[in-house]
Amino acid sequence: MHEVVPVNPWVALAYLIAGVCFILALRGLSSPASSRRGNRFGMAGMAIAVVTTLIVHGLGFDLTFTEPRALTSTLEFDPASLIEILIAIAIGAGIGLVVARRIAMTAMPQLVAAFHSLVGLAAVLVAAAAFLNPQAFHIASVITPIAGPNIVSIFPVSRIEMGLGVAIGAITFSGSVIAFLKLNGNMSGAPILLPGRHIINLGTLAAIIGLIAYFTTDQSGWVFWTVTALSFLIGFLLIIPIGGADMPVVVSMLNSYSGWAAAAMGFTLGNTAMIITGALVGSSGAILSYIMCRAMNRSFISVIAGGFGAVADTSGGGQAIDRPWKRGSAEDAAFLMEQAELVIIVPGYGMAVAQAQHALREMADQLKEKGVTVKYAIHPVAGRMPGHMNVLLAEANVPYDEVFELEDINSEFAQADVAFVIGANDVTNPAAKTDKSSPIYGMPVLDVEKAKTVLFVKRSMGGVGYAGVDNELFYRDNTMMLLADAKKMVEEIVKALD
Ligand code: TAP
Repeated sequence: MHEVVPVNPWVALAYLIAGVCFILALRGLSSPASSRRGNRFGMAGMAIAVVTTLIVHGLGFDLTFTEPRALTSTLEFDPASLIEILIAIAIGAGIGLVVARRIAMTAMPQLVAAFHSLVGLAAVLVAAAAFLNPQAFHIASVITPIAGPNIVSIFPVSRIEMGLGVAIGAITFSGSVIAFLKLNGNMSGAPILLPGRHIINLGTLAAIIGLIAYFTTDQSGWVFWTVTALSFLIGFLLIIPIGGADMPVVVSMLNSYSGWAAAAMGFTLGNTAMIITGALVGSSGAILSYIMCRAMNRSFISVIAGGFGAVADTSGGGQAIDRPWKRGSAEDAAFLMEQAELVIIVPGYGMAVAQAQHALREMADQLKEKGVTVKYAIHPVAGRMPGHMNVLLAEANVPYDEVFELEDINSEFAQADVAFVIGANDVTNPAAKTDKSSPIYGMPVLDVEKAKTVLFVKRSMGGVGYAGVDNELFYRDNTMMLLADAKKMVEEIVKALD
């Protein structure tokens, strides 16, 4: 009979503390006011997890739930391998630091996609290593209480986790690479629709699930590598038909997948910190995907099935050019706004591109000095990533109590004198409410047209938003177009308000 020895209590405690730090990190990140604290908790949790894991390996502590591992001299970490690990961590951290400092805020979604691809790849590599050398990963001894004294046989559950881990990891990897290429503009954002793609996808998925089940009884190399290859393929096939407008959901969905892949690998490695972290990432990513689908009024299934945005390019700015519209100057805008009681600012992607947030806050400060009430209306998918506008406004020290979510401010546009739309387009487009053929139909939008005057800051009449559709608000009587780079225009308004 096997004696079941619990995991070293100090290790368990350290991992528990790391897990609590990660939960506090997620909690902190739920509001701009506490997000810095949340980040610090996340960093502390990760430091505890990494240091504990290194100590565990360095000192040969047991990591598993059931019994101490049968260490042999070849399985132990010697100081040299510890140094190699530290060098690898330093290189990775160095690259991460440089990339994070240099990256433009507008390129954040593709950076996140690129990072997810690495998580997926890591899961595949860990699974492959565990498959090729199960003894080193302690898989054999984990199973002995159940599988009997035959140390070579492998407990099916650890095989299922390994199969799931490699499959989800490979899907995350190839899916994230495609998402990166689409978001970065290396590949067209338009959906690529293969004939019979639903059948091909379902067939491939069924084959993967069947092979993972078969893997529990037959651990031949061909089963493992076929699961891996089919999963790389399905990741690619699942993402190519998804159009650009749905990419944010895809990125958060891939985020969720990367978490589940890490959790599965946590079971393979017997590492509780990885299981907790993976589950947190997996579930928070899934919740975020759901929230974003709701914000765009799309069902999760329709996003995954793809094809959305295929018609987007056909309804571009074309016919718009001939219609009459009103052009205004910075002075006109300054005059209208200083006369106003309530101005609601609606920032969008263009504000991020122009980095106009600091000038915008200056403009709002001037208006407030003149007795105007200023509020900011944030659409959940304004910009190119969740929380994009909140981050930029926070960077410019806009007070949090002036920033409102769509559902909290939408009814106030009717009382507003001016809606100042800066670099936002899709999130204000009434076609989402009225035009069934529009690719954004059904997405809740900000009711800016209800304000007495709508000021639209954008560079040209022809430039469309992310979904590629024209916005009939530009041609309405109560709209004035302020055509210029967002930062330049706001700086001119600031001068005019002086
Ligand atoms: P968009 O609809 O993309 O519109 C951006 C507007 O900014 C365009 O009208 C563009 O017109 C203008 N613009 C660009 N550069 C500018 C500059 N330097 N100065 C002034 N204006 C500039 O933006 P939105 O309203 O924020 O909507 C977001 C869209 O992105 C939605 O369709 C959403 O689904 C999608 N999306 C969102 C996310 C997330 S999670 N937030 C991620 C990916 C995609 P000009 O070219 O004429 O200047």
